[in-house]
Amino acid sequence: MKSLKQLVENLNSKVMLSDCLDFLRELPTESVDLIYLDPPFFTQKEHRLTSRQGEEYSFSDRWNSKNEYLDFLRIRVLEMHRVLKSTGNIFLHCDNNASHYLRIILDDIFGENNFRSEIIWSYKRWSNSSKNLLPNHQVILYYSKSLRYAFNVIFTDYSPTTNVDQILQERARENGKSTYKKDEEGNVISSGPKRGVPLSDVWEIPFLNPKAKERTGYPTQKPVELLKRIIEVGSRKGDLVLDPFCGSGTTLVAAKLMDRQYLGCDINSDAIALTKARLEQPFMTESVLLKKGAQAYNTKTDYEKAILDELNCTVVQRNRGIDGIIKNTRKDDLVAVKIQRQDESIDEAVSLLVSAGTKRKCKKLVLVARSDIPKEYPKNMVVLQGFNLQMKVSQLSK
Ligand SMILES: C[S@@+](CC[C@H](N)C(=O)[O-])C[C@H]1O[C@@H](n2cnc3c(N)ncnc32)[C@H](O)[C@@H]1O
Repeated sequence: MKSLKQLVENLNSKVMLSDCLDFLRELPTESVDLIYLDPPFFTQKEHRLTSRQGEEYSFSDRWNSKNEYLDFLRIRVLEMHRVLKSTGNIFLHCDNNASHYLRIILDDIFGENNFRSEIIWSYKRWSNSSKNLLPNHQVILYYSKSLRYAFNVIFTDYSPTTNVDQILQERARENGKSTYKKDEEGNVISSGPKRGVPLSDVWEIPFLNPKAKERTGYPTQKPVELLKRIIEVGSRKGDLVLDPFCGSGTTLVAAKLMDRQYLGCDINSDAIALTKARLEQPFMTESVLLKKGAQAYNTKTDYEKAILDELNCTVVQRNRGIDGIIKNTRKDDLVAVKIQRQDESIDEAVSLLVSAGTKRKCKKLVLVARSDIPKEYPKNMVVLQGFNLQMKVSQLSK
């Protein structure tokens, strides 16, 4: 059996089953370029999930006290500081359970002047309403080891509200304020095409959806897309990336896809097996939402939107059988609405609505027909003619 030290030294063994404290202690000082850690968040929960293939994965995030949790992280982050190169960067992923305490620990260990950013990872996730704001972000605290840190400026597109002068303008400072630079005649001086807007500290990257090919079934798995961005910001090709709480191996997959060296460890043997399997065929699910923008999902025509609005519906996208659900009905009285499409016969429209509505246990169905009324349709269906919408929600829910 090889010692931990021998294994760490062996370049072919880059993923280890170990408590990261032992693992880190074996690493040479100033040997790593980028560290990303996604430790337990102090949720006081057991995280469990079952993969599509039926494997059960879990890890514990239960602690006797907050101090126990903070001490656990403090000694490990101290080791991370030691192994990080002087040009290196560290990204600590956390959430509102402990981010405010962890910021202080990082200030202590890395120094306040090496705080670089508080990155907000923002995503949309739905849950039942409770008496609180829906938590839709997590925090990634970014520190460098010194002021000589590696950093790649990334440019993004201008927002749709930016006008052409703002894009082409050259900036000047007047009385301490930034203004457009103008010539003697008062015309805005063009600086020529720009590369875009530097990436901000709010990152909108979708959460992995349950059907994403990339999803392994490991609880709290992060998207490769998120890790690719971190690695892109804080390292160069060939650099060594370390994830001491690697879980399903997302960071290492992203590092491999981006031609970085990688090192990872986890205390859980299932996580290590999963990581090794993922690294054999690393891939990333491309987010359609990111590629095309949220508007790409908004496929309703103005005609359809007007009808759904008239019927007081919550608009449903990406479903051929249901275009809207009437708002404010009782849970057992769901009313599904479908608008016949131009390329559908009326019988096809009936059958699509019946099948989608039955699957969702809808009590009533409303079909908005473009011209003909179907000869046959079920008793729980109301057929309206699109050009002459008279029936209102009140009548439907009687
Ligand atoms: C939030 S998960 C990481 C998820 C990972 N980023 C992913 O995308 O799959 C935290 C991981 O830390 C591991 N862990 C907990 N204590 C550890 C320790 N002392 N040393 C190494 N790993 C540990 C858990 O087994 C779990 O896999």
